Formats: sequence, C-alpha cells, structure tokens
Amino acid sequence: MEHDDADPLRARRRTLITGAAGQLGHALAGVFADDDVLALGREGWDVRFESPALPWQPDLVLHAAAWTNVDGAEDDPQGAAAVNVGGTAHASALGAPIVTYSTDYVFDGRKGAPYVESDAPAPASAYGRTKLHGEAAAGERAWIVRSSWLFGETGHNFLRTMLRLGAGRDEVAVVDDQRGSPTYVLHLAEATRSLVEGDAAFGIWHLAADGDCTWADFAEAIFEDAGIDCRVRRITTAEFGAKAPRPAVSILRSEKCAPPLPHWREGLRACLAALG
Ligand SMILES: NC(=O)c1ccc[n+]([C@@H]2O[C@H](COP(=O)([O-])OP(=O)(O)OC[C@H]3O[C@@H](n4cnc5c(N)ncnc54)[C@H](OP(=O)(O)O)[C@@H]3O)[C@@H](O)[C@H]2O)c1
Repeated sequence: MEHDDADPLRARRRTLITGAAGQLGHALAGVFADDDVLALGREGWDVRFESPALPWQPDLVLHAAAWTNVDGAEDDPQGAAAVNVGGTAHASALGAPIVTYSTDYVFDGRKGAPYVESDAPAPASAYGRTKLHGEAAAGERAWIVRSSWLFGETGHNFLRTMLRLGAGRDEVAVVDDQRGSPTYVLHLAEATRSLVEGDAAFGIWHLAADGDCTWADFAEAIFEDAGIDCRVRRITTAEFGAKAPRPAVSILRSEKCAPPLPHWREGLRACLAALG
C-alpha cells in the first residue's frame, strides 16, 4: 500500500485502530505492531462522534469498535446503530482506506449451507441490521471483512465464559442447533494483514476459520483441550431462549480467494496456549 505523505523517506505505515480495547482490536495492535500504530479505545475516541484531533493522517484505518451486545441491540436498536452505523461513517470520513468488520449475523441462516460474499444478506436481528447498514456506511475505499464467532484471550467471548463456567460446574447447557466457524482473533488479525498487503480489491470479504461446529461441539472441544471435567448438555436455541434471533447455519466461506484461516480447532489450541 502506498503512503500519501509529503515525506518520501517515511517508511512506516500510519495505522489507526478503533475499539482497541476489544478482543479483535487487541489482536490487531499486536499483528500491526511494525506500523506506526495509534490504538484508540472508547476513551480515546467514542466513534459515535467525529474523530478527535489526530497526530497524523492515517494511511490505514482498522475499525474494530462496535456495539457487539447482540441481545442488547434488540432493546436499544438506535443505540446500536449510533455505534455500528454512525461510528463506521465517522471512521470512513477520515479518508484513508479502511477495514471495517462485519458479521455472519447479516444472514438469517435459512440457506442451510455456507454463505459466500455474493449471497444476499437478510439479517434477522437488530444487531445484524445495524452491522449491514454499517457495511454501507464504510464508503468506497473499504474492505468489509465479515467474520464469525470471535474468541481470544481478552474480553467477553464464549471461550472465556466456558472456561469460567466449566471450572465451577459439573455440567453446562449449550445450544446445539446453531452451526458456524469459531474464529480466533489473532488468526483474523493476521488474515486482515494479508488482505491489505496483498492485491485484494475493496469490497466484501469473508474471513472466518476453516471447519465448522455447533456451540455445544465448541464447548466440548474447549473442555477437552483445557483438561476441564465438565459435561455439555445439548439444548436447542428455543430452550436457551435468547432475546435476539440467531441464524441456524452461518458458516462463512469465500468465493474470492480470501486469505485462508486455520481450522477453528487450531485457533482454540493456540488461544489456550496463549492463555497459559
Ligand atoms: N464477537 C463476535 O463474535 C463477532 C463475530 C463477528 C463479527 N464481529 C465483529 O468484529 C468486530 C470486533 O468485535 P469484538 O469481538 O472485538 O468486539 P468487542 O470485544 O466487544 O470489542 C468492541 C470494542 O468496541 C468498543 N466500543 C463500543 N462502543 C464504542 C464506541 N461508541 N466508541 C468506541 N468504542 C466503542 C467496546 O468498548 P466497551 O467494551 O467499552 O463497550 C469494545 O472495546 C466488531 O465489528 C464485531 O461486530 C464480532
């Protein structure tokens, strides 16, 4: 990628990361550490508002800030839109090429098979609708990276919840009729770097882990690999009773030669190893 800058000797790309305290933002800061990175958490930039004064014009924006409370968005769809649509518009307004992250929840899951980039989105939840509108707000110089079921060493995620619950219980009840690809944030951050440093055109890209499973399968694999003695009781989405509807099958695959990600099981092992 070229740097638009008056100083021809400047070698380092200037990269702005939003949502830097989130699980993906944290991984991106590590993977792009060779850049001149400005990593802003919510206190550095609340993306519902225009950007604060920056020390420099970025060459690249990695927009990881988002409202990610899927059930909470049903109660406050305008609050979610302010972050997921307004925030993306503000990040795009910086004028630099941008990577903005979207989700498998832009699909309703009724296809019953993996989704590729050209499939028509049809979000079933308020969260999914705000993320889809956020894609449109990203502008023309945007890589729109859809991923799924993110987990990492930090923040709120299914892996960390299972480790906590499994340590204190003999059994956990986990949904077994939703199928997707649990994606390790470090692998997503590395694939993002491959995308922006390759010759990938702007537009929609599906970057998710290889393989797929249900949440119950994922929980069993977590307990097995972490050496936790806890049974998984397989339940239905209806039994679990979450507020927001979720797609039954939301596996993401690329029809565009996207950078490949490792299998979710490999991501799980790498994340557990990093947790120590
Ligand atoms: N998590 C998943 O399973 C998943 C799946 C597919 C796609 N994605 C997408 O991937 C991206 C990264 O998600 P993630 O899992 O890293 O989420 P995350 O851990 O919840 O991180 C999002 C970060 O954004 C921050 N944020 C929220 N509102 C903000 C605001 N108004 N201004 C600035 N920062 C704000 C959050 O801060 P607070 O903690 O203070 O709220 C949090 O640090 C998002 O675009 C998400 O939609 C996530």
